[in-house]
Amino acid sequence: MNRQNFCDKLIEEFDRGLRTLTKSSRITPRENPAKDIHGTELSAQEMQLSGRLMRVNHAGEIAAQGLYHGQALTARDETTLQQMRVSAKEEEDHLAWCEQRLNELQTPRSMITPLWYIGSYAIGATAGLFGDKWSLGFVAETENQVETHLQSHLDKLPIHDDKSRAIIEMMKEDERRHGDAARNLGGVDLPKPVQKGMQAVSKIMTTGAYWV
Ligand SMILES: [Fe+2]
Ligand SMILES: [Fe+2]
Repeated sequence: MNRQNFCDKLIEEFDRGLRTLTKSSRITPRENPAKDIHGTELSAQEMQLSGRLMRVNHAGEIAAQGLYHGQALTARDETTLQQMRVSAKEEEDHLAWCEQRLNELQTPRSMITPLWYIGSYAIGATAGLFGDKWSLGFVAETENQVETHLQSHLDKLPIHDDKSRAIIEMMKEDERRHGDAARNLGGVDLPKPVQKGMQAVSKIMTTGAYWV
């Protein structure tokens, strides 16, 4: 890559990151799964709990954007790159739905949102450097962990919060497909210590975003 191309790429990546962090009214190809749900009104306490859980999911979707953008930067194979872009596009829907639900729940997004993006971008780009089969394995493992995490949120959500539930259920289904796609493209199982390390990082993120 010559200097001109490198500068263009840098600006493109910066622009992509900025759009991810700042867009407040995203137009998404798919409708919000909670659009036609008019559930029971939540109590203040229930709204607070749902708001915190959806803030964690919003931070997770910001991180997903960072991971996919970072991995796309260093992906080598064109098919892998295309899959990263398709999955990142679907993650944009998730991000928009989480944002919309956060607004309804009158809950601010995580105060350290840029940190989730930058940190995940760095992790994604690093994973991509190990080559596509490891990078895809990383996607598969991430999506697997996200799916488990989303199930735990379905169990914790207030019983009446049908809107958040509909969003999370659709996201969970998409994450499963993203994981399958990565495995089908040749993603390998990551070593156990790496899986454990990823769980630890995700624990820090989910706990952090729950509170701030
Ligand atoms: Fe997602
Ligand atoms: Fe995903």
